[in-house]
Amino acid sequence: MIAEQIKFHYLEYKDLDVVMTVDEEAFLEPWSKTLWEKELSRPDRIYLGAFYEHRLIGFGGGLIIEKDFHITTIATLNRFRDQGVATLLLRALIKSLIDQSETITGITLEVRASNDSAQALYRKFGFAPVGIRRGYYQSDGEDAIIMWLRELSEKTFKTKLNEIENSVFAKVQIEGIPT
Ligand SMILES: CC(C)(COP(=O)(O)OP(=O)(O)OC[C@H]1O[C@@H](n2cnc3c(N)ncnc32)[C@H](O)[C@@H]1OP(=O)(O)O)[C@@H](O)C(=O)NCCC(=O)NCCS
Repeated sequence: MIAEQIKFHYLEYKDLDVVMTVDEEAFLEPWSKTLWEKELSRPDRIYLGAFYEHRLIGFGGGLIIEKDFHITTIATLNRFRDQGVATLLLRALIKSLIDQSETITGITLEVRASNDSAQALYRKFGFAPVGIRRGYYQSDGEDAIIMWLRELSEKTFKTKLNEIENSVFAKVQIEGIPT
């Protein structure tokens, strides 16, 4: 299992090509090169990469809008899915937001109504659905669920983040026991 060997780094412009490779594998509609160039250059954007054996296997991030952080994307390469990569990445992203800026009070995102695994990932952290954007996805007109996480400044939230991290490693250890 790879969870214990994953390292997280902020993504930079130099990571453009590998980010696009992961994006193209993970999404039916990957972002254009022009969009990624902008996203990786702007100072109000924060993107974190998950690296395993020096290879990018996942990423996630978004932008700061006033007191909120808007997650625009998160993905794990297909063959590394369901091993806790996105959980650890989201945990690292949220922790870095809390550590960097006490002014960020909420995190929001849109997720496809049919994307059960992503919604389950977000719910683990306390994201709650607050509304629907009808026909949000232009390619097929699917609705987006709007989710918000508001409990960032609560004292117990850091404990929750640690518990989420521990649960990934606990799962790895249980699954690692030879039968
Ligand atoms: C959504 C995505 C990022 C999850 O990445 P991942 O590394 O596999 O996620 P994790 O292994 O950390 O699992 C996180 C949670 O997702 C859910 N999940 C993961 N795989 C699942 C599956 N096959 N079926 C149902 N739920 C699943 C579980 O709730 C899991 O938590 P648990 O293991 O504690 O039960 C990944 O599936 C992906 O890249 N999808 C394509 C891109 C995408 O849809 N991104 C989201 C945009 S809003």
